[in-house]
Amino acid sequence: MARQTWTEGRLLQDKTIVVTGCASGIGWETAKLVKALGGDVIGVDINRTEDHVDELYIADLSDRMAIKALVNALPSGIDGIANIAGLPPTAPADMVLKVNLVGLKFFTNAMIGRLNDGASIVNLASLAGFGWEESIPAIKASETLAFEDVEDFIKTHNVGNEVGRSYFFSKEAVVAWTIQNRWTWRDRGIRMNAVSPAAVDTPILKDFLATLGPRGEEGIRLTERPGRPEEIAPVVAFLMSDMTHWIRGTNIPVDGGMASHFLAQRHQL
Ligand SMILES: NC(=O)c1ccc[n+]([C@@H]2O[C@H](COP(=O)([O-])OP(=O)(O)OC[C@H]3O[C@@H](n4cnc5c(N)ncnc54)[C@H](O)[C@@H]3O)[C@@H](O)[C@H]2O)c1
Repeated sequence: MARQTWTEGRLLQDKTIVVTGCASGIGWETAKLVKALGGDVIGVDINRTEDHVDELYIADLSDRMAIKALVNALPSGIDGIANIAGLPPTAPADMVLKVNLVGLKFFTNAMIGRLNDGASIVNLASLAGFGWEESIPAIKASETLAFEDVEDFIKTHNVGNEVGRSYFFSKEAVVAWTIQNRWTWRDRGIRMNAVSPAAVDTPILKDFLATLGPRGEEGIRLTERPGRPEEIAPVVAFLMSDMTHWIRGTNIPVDGGMASHFLAQRHQL
């Protein structure tokens, strides 16, 4: 692959980035920042927005046929996919797994042929995925999970809605999938990374707090406040840029220090 460097101009000049979940919260903010940095935004959401998108595709990312139709409709020549659409732990467990995990993977895999060489894929995971190493058997079992098998999977692997388990598992599996794909499309210079925020002040913050109860409140107390969407979007934008071709398969916490806090506690540092 030709050597790519960034020397001048705006960070995402001439890049076309697909942003899922562009109608609200972190996706909305990411679309806004991509535009501000010179990129074109192809927005995807189940809800409509007029903001910060050059083209908008309304699609339900929990539905295989809808994703197939979306992929057929999207243009080629895409430089990045920001997989940001997601449901909170208060949504039904099957929907959480379909949107946050199965749909994300299905959409991404179907889009590889539409991507330019050197493209960047960023998965919005979560601090909720921090404990992924403790879920390896279920994560491995979910590798080829199909939409129609999600309900059985939830029962077999005990990843229903109790204390937000479906949400936590969806994010654990996304972190693991990102790591797994560190080199999958390396011959085309396509890289995949994840970004993992702790609680962020978006419309679904209340859903997290309702699920986590005192644990959620304690997290916010430790980090002094929830994060803001405008503190997450720059990390996604940076990963989309030509400055990051050697960042592969990694998971970047943007969490006010929470992931480090867990590690420091675990190892008594
Ligand atoms: N807010 C937080 O505290 C927090 C923390 C960590 C990770 N995250 C993750 O960040 C991502 C964005 O969350 P947010 O806080 O901006 O939430 P949000 O609700 O503000 O935005 C989510 C967007 O996804 C879209 N969406 C939901 N289901 C969809 C579907 N079936 N098809 C297409 N689009 C769909 C929604 O319409 C919405 O526009 C999610 O993946 C979430 O899990 C959020």
